[in-house]
Parts: sequence; C-alpha cells; structure tokens
Amino acid sequence: MSRTAKLAFLGDINGAPGKAVVERCLPALRERWAPDVVVANAENARNGSGLTPELYRAFRGMGIDAITLGDHVFRDTKVVPILENPEEPVARPANLSARSPGKRWTRIPAAGTRTRDIYVVTVLGRIFFPMPANDPFAAIDEVLGAIPERRPIVVVEAHMEATSEKAAMGAWCDGRAALVVGTHTHVPTADARILRKGTGFITDVGMCGPYDSVIGRDTDAVVRHMTSALPVHYEMGQGDPRLCGVFVEISEDTGLANRIERIELA
Ligand SMILES: [Fe+2]
Ligand SMILES: [Fe+2]
Repeated sequence: MSRTAKLAFLGDINGAPGKAVVERCLPALRERWAPDVVVANAENARNGSGLTPELYRAFRGMGIDAITLGDHVFRDTKVVPILENPEEPVARPANLSARSPGKRWTRIPAAGTRTRDIYVVTVLGRIFFPMPANDPFAAIDEVLGAIPERRPIVVVEAHMEATSEKAAMGAWCDGRAALVVGTHTHVPTADARILRKGTGFITDVGMCGPYDSVIGRDTDAVVRHMTSALPVHYEMGQGDPRLCGVFVEISEDTGLANRIERIELA
C-alpha cells in the first residue's frame, strides 16, 4: 500500500481569541484527524494584524510545523529576522517585490513515517487587494521550478479576496500541487473537493478566531465606521471562537490528494 501524508491547514489565527481556540482545540484535532503536519496562517495573530517573534514561538511551541503570512506580513517588523532565517519554517508571500525580506517558501522535512518533504508557498491576489503584488500565477511557476525535487509535495495558499482568483489558482495548480487552500476572507466556504487532476481545493478555510465579529473585528466598531465614515479604532471581536481549517490526505507517490475534509472545532 502506498504511503500517505496527512496535513491540516488552519486559517488565519486572529488575535488572542484565535490563539486561545487553537491552543484549546488542537488536541481534539490531533485525536480525530491525526495529522503528520500542521500548517497555520498567522498574519492576524498580533491583535488582528501582524506576527511577533513571541507569538511565532508560541505557535511553534504548540507543535505547528510551519507558519504562513499574508498582506499583514510586515505589520510587526520585529519578525523580519525570523522570516530571513533559513532554519525557521515561516515564509512571506512569494509574489512580493524581489527586494522584500524573507523566504519565498518553506520546506517541512520528512519525519517519522512521512518519507517526503512538504513545501508550502503563499501567493497574494491582485483583485480587490490592499497590497501591490506581482503575478501570482507566474510566481507559482517560478517556485515550482526552483524546488529541487521532481514531483514535490506542495501546498499552495491562495491569499486572495476574489473567489474567482482563488478558483483560477486552483485550476492553475491542478495536478502540480497536493492542496490549494484559500485564506484572507476569514469566512469558511463549503466547497472542499478534489479537482480534475488530483489537487485538493477549498476557496476559503475560514479563520481561527471569534465568529461573533465582522471577520474578526469588534462588530459595533466596524458597523460604526461603515455607517459614519468616521475613523474608528478596531478592537478584536471576542465571542464564538472557532478553529477552522482543512484536512488533506496526500499520496506520497503522486504528491496529490486522496481525501479532503473541512475542519471546524469550537
Ligand atoms: Fe487574514
Ligand atoms: Fe490577509
């Protein structure tokens, strides 16, 4: 029987409520899905925006194997030396300017019963997006070309606003990546499936954070801003914290998905 690698990807961890729900629910996740590898996006970890070295170490201490980031990547620049360190499994989005600090992808080395390395790469979208970025499709081709393996196991994170751009990224990577996972919009979608050529796909995994909120932020503050146009300081929401993500079982022979399933724990 061919070997499989089991991977869980957790959506954007939002502030203290997000960190707390991940900490609380990870044991139940491990018991039910038994992932070999856990990857999480932590771009919103610092009170909704950015990642600090302390939070990075806290997530690593929970057994999260690799951390990804999105448009909030440089909100706390104290994390830059960690992004630049080749030993630390955290990468910036691959399609930023060539002069941006940080690694373009992360490699999770083979360990235990898993005989293959897993590569993780994030690309930012360009449609309705707050941060200028290069062509994400060309960036994926560059990264796949630079990985020193013939049929690598690759997880692509489509950190994008538009569902159409995420679907197109899924199609672009179909047959070349084990998983294309959408993030950034913080709302889970119900379309987890395996694409024609074997790539697992979901438009958005949702966030790990407070769902009694406006995509993570305090509801009253966001509504006040949107109904008055006045500048309002956004605090984190607090209620209804949930851990959301996706589980994928990957064939180590083909590097493609055998099974994909949404994860939601509270
Ligand atoms: Fe986010
Ligand atoms: Fe984002």
